[in-house]
Amino acid sequence: MKKKVISALLSVAMVATLLVGCGSSNTAATTEAPAKETTEAPAAEAPSEETAEAPAETEAGGGLIGVAMPTKDLQRWNQDGSNMETQLKEAGYEVDLQYASNDIATQVSQIENMISNGCKLLVIASIDGDSLGTVLAQAKDAGIPVIAYDRLIMNSDAVTYYATFDNYMVGTKQGEYIRDTLDLDNAKGPFNIEIFTGDPGDNNARFFYGGAMDVLQPYIDEGKLVVKSGSVEFEKVATANWSTETAQSRMDAIIASYYADGTKLDAVLCSNDSTALGVENSLAAAYTGEWPIITGQDCDIANVKNMINGKQSMSIFKDTRTLATQVVQMVDAVMKGGEAPVNDTESYDNGTGIIPSYLCEPVFADINNYKELLIDSGYYKEADLQ
Ligand code: BGC
Repeated sequence: MKKKVISALLSVAMVATLLVGCGSSNTAATTEAPAKETTEAPAAEAPSEETAEAPAETEAGGGLIGVAMPTKDLQRWNQDGSNMETQLKEAGYEVDLQYASNDIATQVSQIENMISNGCKLLVIASIDGDSLGTVLAQAKDAGIPVIAYDRLIMNSDAVTYYATFDNYMVGTKQGEYIRDTLDLDNAKGPFNIEIFTGDPGDNNARFFYGGAMDVLQPYIDEGKLVVKSGSVEFEKVATANWSTETAQSRMDAIIASYYADGTKLDAVLCSNDSTALGVENSLAAAYTGEWPIITGQDCDIANVKNMINGKQSMSIFKDTRTLATQVVQMVDAVMKGGEAPVNDTESYDNGTGIIPSYLCEPVFADINNYKELLIDSGYYKEADLQ
């Protein structure tokens, strides 16, 4: 699905983005405590000098930008929202930032309000990619451009651009980690694996799953990897709302049925950290064998702690500061009547055609490099991980 050439171009683009784009926003992103699972808006915790510095409008244009985020329950969206707000303000825009508690109707009504309150552009991380068609038709009628943030909005011709991390590459890296750690090409096996992916309404989940399964499926087919539960297809391994509790109870049931007799579980492919956390909680409570390889994504604090404690093998680091920088550049270009920078015009068809996209590069994190990636870069403070 993804081309090596694009990856190579991406690497170059991302180095540039990291050097230029993130540099200016590091202070804002790092002085803010990474949000715990809290109901408080982290934006309110932004350092005062950031708020004081934000000009109301600049000659760059200004105007009100609506930013719709799915939920505060997951750490990353708090960081995404906060980074977007800070960086948009730095660029001279006003911001209406809303979180929708993972409730589709709430997100729809928040977007309706943004339209009626005079937002000039909408940035939306959707809860369910298929549920925004009607409200976005209103945006289109009102001439308001829409940027899909991290998750593609499906079946709506109102979507102007999409910015995300390379979701297929996320899955590929997870699958390759399992392949390489178990040395599947040389070891005799067979090895037992279980699979957990994300919400079926999130287009990303299929890309994560697809990327990982393109690596792992051949080993399942040849019998070197065995899925004792028999759950392999996307629908069977999906986790509604990416819920930790749902993943945990599914893992509880799998352990009780297939691993309670001492059968060794060698690996669990988890598409992200919230599902990985559920799996880890379940294993800690009910599994007595040698701890399996577990993948994840987001480098959430709880999961990085587990990585340090040997309970999670790896996570994918998606620097939310980088994505925010990219999206703010998109916003600025569109608001000035120009075209936004994109680096992929073939991977993401939302049902109405290809949406021009900018794909940031996800990075692999494990016990060996997390300090450099997460602490030296200022993403977390050392104390956050203790
Ligand atoms: C994001 C992941 C996140 C998941 C659950 C996905 O769309 O890309 O980073 O872990 O949603 O919120």
